[in-house]
Amino acid sequence: MESEDHIESTFVMIKPDGVKRGLVGEIISRLEEKGLELRAMKFKNLDIETAKIHYAEHVDKPFYEHLVYYVTSGPIIIMAVEGFNAVRAVRQLVGSTNPIEAMPGSLRGDFCLEQVRNLVHAADSLEAASRELALHFNKDDFVSELPVDEKIE
Ligand code: CMP
Repeated sequence: MESEDHIESTFVMIKPDGVKRGLVGEIISRLEEKGLELRAMKFKNLDIETAKIHYAEHVDKPFYEHLVYYVTSGPIIIMAVEGFNAVRAVRQLVGSTNPIEAMPGSLRGDFCLEQVRNLVHAADSLEAASRELALHFNKDDFVSELPVDEKIE
């Protein structure tokens, strides 16, 4: 029988509160410990134009302006993360949007309290992952799989 597990790539952002609070290592560790692999990563300030495109689906929400202001207020980490069922796997590690509803053990459940400053963003579908990866990364930002033991002679 064919496996229902598919290798996927997804988009993950450590938001300004995650960087400011020194949680970058913890967040990346959780992804790696799960078995997910980094394929691209950048440490940068997000410009307002890109932030508006990234969050375009929320343009009519009351929190939209605050969200764009906040996500451009300090450095972020953006990542392309790959693995079996990566979209759902990362969303589960991150936890519910509202940290009060996020399960203990998830990143938001363990490390934050507010809905806007909720530490991490992760694409919520394969379509969103493709759109967000294309918005934030160029083709040559990605590394292909090359385990260390195959690199060293
Ligand atoms: P994120 O996963 O980045 O996707 C959209 C973001 O909008 C979300 O995390 C929160 O930061 C923010 N958000 C979603 N719902 C609310 C809300 N009800 N109030 C404030 N911020 C919200």
